Amino acid sequence: MSIKGEEFRPQIVAFCCNWCSYAGADLAGSSRLAYPADVKIIRVPCSCRVNPMFILRAFEKGADGVIICGCHPGDCHYSTGNYYARRRMTLLFSMLDYVGIERGRTRVEWVSAAEGVKFSQTMNEFVETIRGLGKNVRLGDLRCKK
Ligand code: FES
Repeated sequence: MSIKGEEFRPQIVAFCCNWCSYAGADLAGSSRLAYPADVKIIRVPCSCRVNPMFILRAFEKGADGVIICGCHPGDCHYSTGNYYARRRMTLLFSMLDYVGIERGRTRVEWVSAAEGVKFSQTMNEFVETIRGLGKNVRLGDLRCKK
């Protein structure tokens, strides 16, 4: 609950690779598995397409949490894209404290096209984690506030 009595609804950005995770999200939807509507999915060709600047930009624009979902290691449509993504995100996440973002506000998860249940559970868990952390106020760009 916020001071005004409104329930805090975290804004989540989920980058999903086209070949597995996006299909997993689709399966979750068609299987009528619930996950919060505040999860905004951005479809990318592969998890390695997610530039670390996209994540910082999402936080700057008011996201409370950012999750990157891709194919399981060894299953990437482009062979090794998710290995690059994993390395890149490990490096970025290790530096997040320096730019003022709590580590828990980011996550990498591997979700296959057949794992609608996992997609829904992951999103529900992540939203709960972010709800516990509260609103992202440390990196928000004041120019983006209404
Ligand atoms: Fe899914 Fe590369 S195509 S992670």
